[in-house]
Amino acid sequence: MTDPDIRKGLAGVVADVTAVSKVNPETNSLLYRGYPVQELAATQPFEAVAYLLWNGELPTAPQLAELRTLEREHRALPGDVRAAIDLLPLEAHPMDEVRTAVSVIGALDTAGSGSVLDASGSPAQNLDRSIRLYAVLPAIVAYGQRRRRGQGVVEPRDDLDYAANFLWMTFGEDPHEAVVDAFNRSMVLYAEHSFNASTFTARVVTSTLSDLYSAVVAAIGALKGPLHGGANEAVLHIMDEIGDAANVVPWLDRALAEKRKIMGFGHRVYKKGDSRVPTMKAALDTLVEHYDRADVAELYEALEREFVSRKGIYPNLDYPSGPAYNLIGFDTLTFTPLFIASRVTGWTAHIMEQAASNALIRPLSAYNGPEERHIAGYVPTDEELAAAERAAEAG
Ligand code: COA
Repeated sequence: MTDPDIRKGLAGVVADVTAVSKVNPETNSLLYRGYPVQELAATQPFEAVAYLLWNGELPTAPQLAELRTLEREHRALPGDVRAAIDLLPLEAHPMDEVRTAVSVIGALDTAGSGSVLDASGSPAQNLDRSIRLYAVLPAIVAYGQRRRRGQGVVEPRDDLDYAANFLWMTFGEDPHEAVVDAFNRSMVLYAEHSFNASTFTARVVTSTLSDLYSAVVAAIGALKGPLHGGANEAVLHIMDEIGDAANVVPWLDRALAEKRKIMGFGHRVYKKGDSRVPTMKAALDTLVEHYDRADVAELYEALEREFVSRKGIYPNLDYPSGPAYNLIGFDTLTFTPLFIASRVTGWTAHIMEQAASNALIRPLSAYNGPEERHIAGYVPTDEELAAAERAAEAG
């Protein structure tokens, strides 16, 4: 028998088709439903991008207004979800907090709970669940950060759109237009990225005919890891460690000698640069100017210059978004939850696509354990077990 062709980490494997987004590493481009992500980030509110991902087309004015109305209806933190969050220790990682909150929301949605067969939901039910999750996640993320700071809930404001209201609920202050714009761009850029690890996880769970909430909870678990979404948080730890642009060279000498991975650099698909980075770097530059923090840009650029020239590995989206979120005032631990609030749109678009054309995802494995063997002679007798227990008790 010939050796099977194993692609460790499924690298290079095309697992299915998708109409949600197209990543082209050759042309360094990312399209959501055909539209370049840079164009979307420059011109569209996050709500319109969510609509696009779910429905395949950008919304007309009445369609956008309808989505915004629905989003406003569901943007407050429900009392039972807050109560569940309050049961968690303040030291719990915010990703675990959000994962738990989504799980609670799923358990509270009893539609289809009569049978596991209909828990997976109709297309209309799943779109409705997707909209409600996307609407409520900002309140969950904002409350998590406030709770850790010893602050209470800030109720949402109907006069603010998604991005501005998200910042309002987090900080309880009227956000500046430049900050809202930079934040909105980051939400658009994080929304979707084809078969990344968390999206694929969501599709695997969906493929078993499980429900949308279970798929999102599993996706959050996958996103938490520092090789995926956790990298934006890790970037800030690195920047804190370096401290100043002048320290970049000795810090990098040491880090590379210790064979450390430099978080925020490298990508499984993009090898010549991440298509989203220039747009997010421009948003970071706006924030640097707004907050008058040239030191942040200096450190950012020094590390990028040095690492790219030594390794030829380019920054990914987490590299500019980490410092951008830091300047806005988010705690480092809140960064990856922000990614959830955005990516839930892409996840749910994929969940609905998978459900509409399902095949159970179940690959094969090549066995490399012991050859077939038999129990006789290896299993202790009752007498031997009793003697061993007596010996353990004795001492
Ligand atoms: N810092 C240092 N070296 C890196 C690196 C990084 N950020 N990213 C890749 N490399 C090196 C690896 O050490 C490896 O070197 P080797 O061949 O000498 O062993 C080589 O580049 C290939 O890396 P590999 O991890 O096999 O590539 P991949 O395609 O499997 O990994 C990532 C992609 C994203 C997992 C990887 O680049 C990484 O860990 N980056 C840091 C985490 C991060 O920013 N994640 C967010 C992704 S959007």
